[in-house]
Amino acid sequence: MGTGFSGEVAEYYAKYRRGYPSELFDALQAEFGWTKDDVVLDLGCGTGQLAVPAAARVRAVIGMDPEPDMLRHAGETAAQAGAGNTVWVLGSDADVSEIGAQIGVGSLASVLVGQALHWMRHELLFPRLLPLLRPGGGVAVVANGTPLWMHDSDWSHALRDCLEAYFGSRPGPTGGGSPQDRARYARALETAGYRDVREITVRRTDELTVDQLVGALFSTFSAESLPPEPQRTELAQRIRWSLPSGKPLIEDVEVTAVLAHAPSGPR
Ligand SMILES: C[S@@+](CC[C@H](N)C(=O)[O-])C[C@H]1O[C@@H](n2cnc3c(N)ncnc32)[C@H](O)[C@@H]1O
Repeated sequence: MGTGFSGEVAEYYAKYRRGYPSELFDALQAEFGWTKDDVVLDLGCGTGQLAVPAAARVRAVIGMDPEPDMLRHAGETAAQAGAGNTVWVLGSDADVSEIGAQIGVGSLASVLVGQALHWMRHELLFPRLLPLLRPGGGVAVVANGTPLWMHDSDWSHALRDCLEAYFGSRPGPTGGGSPQDRARYARALETAGYRDVREITVRRTDELTVDQLVGALFSTFSAESLPPEPQRTELAQRIRWSLPSGKPLIEDVEVTAVLAHAPSGPR
């Protein structure tokens, strides 16, 4: 197995990808009635951005991802956070039924999918998850804001122009986070038999350092497309020079989640 998230990309992801706000976890806990008896699956867990904070609110979190390097970083992050109630499983969306075989049907309070559903066959995945969910449980499809180069701000316009000049084409949206994607996922959840499908949004404002901006940008490349050295340092330098000088890099972050309940409905 293995994905484009290996090696240095996994390192950039672990170090520079923003986590999720506590308000998101408050909302998930309220929506699915998480207690200290519950088990949550984070599918496509990456370096643990959802799994590790969720672990503080439930009995255990299973983080599942096909990329060993991402799982290794997730394990390190969990250890640093004292989240000893996390387990990390190498696997993809095609393997979720194994979870049911291992821990029993109806065992999961939630399945979380953060910034990863576009890599999966969601029309097959959603029905497969249904028997794994306990009454009142459900699925949350989460997206962590807009790509850095797609904001309506001076620094984001400068970044977009810089990337276009460097690569020769305008960078596009990354998969899975647009309103159209969310509507598609919501429809697929309803078609699969989920109830009370709805969307929530949590907004916040962050100030980035230039290093954070560059590191988070490099985390969006695949291992194959990440520029090697010395080109990477040159690109980072070009980005630094292109940013409006003396202005803080303020990012308005809109975290969204499509929530859906197993047919037994909210408890
Ligand atoms: C952009 S990262 C998201 C990480 C984290 N969930 C977050 O919210 O930041 C996408 C993750 O999905 C994983 N992935 C790719 N294909 C997958 C699949 N078919 N099933 C499960 N995870 C997959 C990748 O290995 C990667 O770790």
